[in-house]
Amino acid sequence: MPSGPGERSRLRQKEARAFLSDKLVALDRDKAEFCYQLCRANDARRIVEIGTSYGLSTLYLAAALRDNVHAGGGNGVVIGTEYEANKASAARAHFEQAGLSRFIDLREGDLRETLRQIDGPVDFMLVDIWITMARPALELVTPHLRSGAIVISDNTGQYRSEYADYFAFLEGHGFRTMTLPFDGGLEMSVRCQA
Ligand SMILES: C[S@@+](CC[C@H](N)C(=O)[O-])C[C@H]1O[C@@H](n2cnc3c(N)ncnc32)[C@H](O)[C@@H]1O
Repeated sequence: MPSGPGERSRLRQKEARAFLSDKLVALDRDKAEFCYQLCRANDARRIVEIGTSYGLSTLYLAAALRDNVHAGGGNGVVIGTEYEANKASAARAHFEQAGLSRFIDLREGDLRETLRQIDGPVDFMLVDIWITMARPALELVTPHLRSGAIVISDNTGQYRSEYADYFAFLEGHGFRTMTLPFDGGLEMSVRCQA
């Protein structure tokens, strides 16, 4: 039997992770298309995706990168993050099928480890993960966000209070932010440095 509140909370987290380990929880199609548009608009070349799962939103981001490269030359990468091995493996198969693997660096493991190394400025970031992980991810990536970089986060209207620490970080680190009227709310934040 769990002995205290800390242990009970860890047990609940473990059970939740086990339950969700094979579930498909993907970004809504209109939100994914919006991310594609934004990546085209800011000619994104380095994109970080927080939460890859089976790779659905990654395909939109990588398609935008591919189209930016075709239009303007050069190169780029979508850095994905996933800690469930079965999802990462399925996502890789989807990237192959779509012919987009060469644009994607899927980092398997806990993002608090896998995102410690990011080379070069980040133009676009998608945060689509269990909410408790949103702020730690933003903290890790923010030093790499170029001025004008866009950060999109899902369901910030529906889960406003759960996102409180995420909003506090945005406020303290030079972001302008607004909640767009997609289903559940979609946060669009822009890194504005002095
Ligand atoms: C909402 S899903 C992502 C959906 C994906 N963006 C899409 O549209 O298809 C969130 C994913 O983040 C993964 N995840 C949760 N915590 C993580 C962590 N600390 N490190 C890496 N991946 C994590 C989960 O396993 C889950 O597959």
